[in-house]
Amino acid sequence: MADLILGQTLGFAADPFAEGPGAARHAARSGVLVEGGVIRAVGDGASLRAANPGATVHDMGTALLSAGFVDAHVHYPQTGIIASWGKRLIDWLNSYTFPEEMRFSDPAHARDIAALYFDIALANGTTSMASYATIHPASVDAFFEEARARGMRAAAGKTCMDRNAPDGLRDTAQSAYDDSKRLLEKWHGVDRLSYVITPRFSPTSTPEQLQALGALWAEHPECLMQTHLSEQMDEIEWVKSLFPNARDYLDTYEAFGLLRTGGMYGHAIHLEPRERARLREVDASLIHCPTSNTFIGSGIFDMAGLMAEGQRIGLATDTGGGSSFSMLRTMAAAYELAQLRHNPLHPAQLWWLATQGSARAMRIDHAVGNLAPGMEADIIAVNLSSTPAIAQRAARAQDIWEALFPTIMMGDDRAISAVWVGGRKVG
Ligand code: GUN
Ligand code: ZN
Repeated sequence: MADLILGQTLGFAADPFAEGPGAARHAARSGVLVEGGVIRAVGDGASLRAANPGATVHDMGTALLSAGFVDAHVHYPQTGIIASWGKRLIDWLNSYTFPEEMRFSDPAHARDIAALYFDIALANGTTSMASYATIHPASVDAFFEEARARGMRAAAGKTCMDRNAPDGLRDTAQSAYDDSKRLLEKWHGVDRLSYVITPRFSPTSTPEQLQALGALWAEHPECLMQTHLSEQMDEIEWVKSLFPNARDYLDTYEAFGLLRTGGMYGHAIHLEPRERARLREVDASLIHCPTSNTFIGSGIFDMAGLMAEGQRIGLATDTGGGSSFSMLRTMAAAYELAQLRHNPLHPAQLWWLATQGSARAMRIDHAVGNLAPGMEADIIAVNLSSTPAIAQRAARAQDIWEALFPTIMMGDDRAISAVWVGGRKVG
């Protein structure tokens, strides 16, 4: 049984940072033919309808059909503490984050929050993500069980910390290795799920723990690795004092086998030239978390400079340090931060970052992140007139980018009118 979704379609034939907005493929009165969970065709709506008379038609009118959003860095356990007031990174972790993560020692709490998180993410059009769990193995099980029940392509890992975290929220080098390995063997490659080796950041891991996780990654190079890098200046100073022999922050990962292709480094704001060169050399992924970087007061990611160097960059909410579950709001924050550096990101570049860019950063762009034949059918329908304020601005638009930009800047979950995961309509 095929499904035919009708609307305006937006996909990418190339990278708009390299090729400009012409890299995008937009068509009005278009359609997406889906069969067996996969996109079979994208093309003229009337022609697809005539050629597939048996297909179930979902006529979305003038809604924009796109690949679902990909959130390349999120902490699902922090759902309940989003929008917590007044702290910078280290105080924010100690005041809000660690007490909440402690509650995940109760598997029932983990299940409740995982279910809530996925409902919110899907309502916002986010169909794939890379999430941190907590140190508790059951928090990883809860994430994967909920993702699997929804048929999602999702990635996560047990957050490892064996120092500088409160009692009850520390593992050890050995238990981090053992638990991560067991969870990896249990979940990696099951349905559409993948395991991510997850040292939280070097201040909360001893050299022994970083070494153990580096060894695990060497045994499982097919997995991703995620961590945080150079988010705030105080954090960087702390890292220097904890690792006096390290050349820089990145070296605290590199020295223990935690720098290579498949590594995803969240924030990456205050980078040294050597760090930038090494990240590029190994083709690591830098994850831009713009609402978090303003909310926690971290700084301005150098999007233009890093893109010009050819870095692999994804976009992410980083909830609950980030202040929104919406990748639309996240694109808006990326636009605003880039404006502070005199670099107005084009709507095509913003949309690409939230779909293809993040999928590339997670190395799942062969499967998701684009509206094209052969891709898995994770699709969203976006209403470009979802509120009166957006509608009146979009009504003046002369082209698709002018029609889309008000939704990028002012849109939220009200703009997401339908979501398909693996070809199945979920909302
Ligand atoms: N650095 C280490 N842990 C975290 C976290 O949970 N959120 C953010 N934004 N930065 C971190
Ligand atoms: Zn984070």
